[in-house]
Amino acid sequence: MKILVTGGCGYVGTVLTETLLKEGHQVISFDTQWFGNHLTAHPNLVNINGDIRNIDSIPFKGVEVIIHLANIANDPAVELNPTLSWEVNVLAAQQLADRAVRFGVKQFIYASSGSVYGVKDEPQVTEDLPLVPISVYNKTKMVAERVLLSYQDQMQVHCIRPATVCGVSPRMRLDVSVNMLSFQALKNKKITVYGGDQTRPNIHMKDMIRVYQHFIQNPSIVSGCYNAGFENISILEISERVKKKVNAEVIVSESNDPRSYRQNSDKLLATGFKQQYGVDDAIDEIIELHKSGKLIETDQCFTVKWMKYLNLAQ
Ligand SMILES: NC(=O)c1ccc[n+]([C@@H]2O[C@H](COP(=O)([O-])OP(=O)(O)OC[C@H]3O[C@@H](n4cnc5c(N)ncnc54)[C@H](O)[C@@H]3O)[C@@H](O)[C@H]2O)c1
Repeated sequence: MKILVTGGCGYVGTVLTETLLKEGHQVISFDTQWFGNHLTAHPNLVNINGDIRNIDSIPFKGVEVIIHLANIANDPAVELNPTLSWEVNVLAAQQLADRAVRFGVKQFIYASSGSVYGVKDEPQVTEDLPLVPISVYNKTKMVAERVLLSYQDQMQVHCIRPATVCGVSPRMRLDVSVNMLSFQALKNKKITVYGGDQTRPNIHMKDMIRVYQHFIQNPSIVSGCYNAGFENISILEISERVKKKVNAEVIVSESNDPRSYRQNSDKLLATGFKQQYGVDDAIDEIIELHKSGKLIETDQCFTVKWMKYLNLAQ
């Protein structure tokens, strides 16, 4: 199958692209390569360095499935340049969907975010709860979902709402919670937790990839939004789990970050998906990578820092 992965050189996109190639798919990765290009050349890979806002430069011919990951991909990064963020996260998504339909793409899978719910006290945050986005990032995700779902009468549209992803990737992110706390412990023997009692859901990288594979393999799953988050645990709990594996001190500091919510992924599970990996697996993998000397901290591992370096701030 010919699959277009936007953001194919990102943290998730790199692992996804390599997995799809291993499965025998033809993959087009379309990415600005802001965080480098860690994809290995492959006869079935077309690796394009380009901006999705230049819609005419994207080769849609023969594409059956689009997995749309290319976004400004966290709250503080979006705030650096809200105009750029709305253009990339929303306007480009609409153009992609419009072209997709014209080129006969059958399925459009979108990486939304579990953070679209905003702060929620409900113990079970299901897809039917109202969205109260609290950041520009959340708003761009919510609006893009709505725009994309307006095309569901013309192609299958699956909006996945992933929890925070954890685990290793050739394009490593050290600014996502489990990775960040594990790395702090390994590097400084100390973990600083801001607040700590905010609860957030998590998803292991391998399960994240398995979710996208699941939707490709089951295209007739009803169009709509699907939560993909499994371990609703506090930042403090993650730190304690890291502490058990790495001898490190946990220091709790004041926080003004109110983001706290749980995700219920029963709707996804009802489609036949089964979770296989967890936060502990991710911590173990990061420890292993560190032991092997291959966990290299560079500024590219921190989205906001690197976007500032690239002069992408307004
Ligand atoms: N990582 C997480 O915890 C998480 C959680 C929920 C949702 N998501 C979503 O999943 C997707 C992938 O996230 P990630 O962690 O891999 O982020 P990432 O920043 O590593 O990857 C995004 C990729 O998109 C590319 N990109 C950005 N703007 C572009 C543009 N205009 N044209 C072409 N390419 C562009 C970047 O170069 C980057 O390689 C994002 O949409 C993100 O919002 C991620």
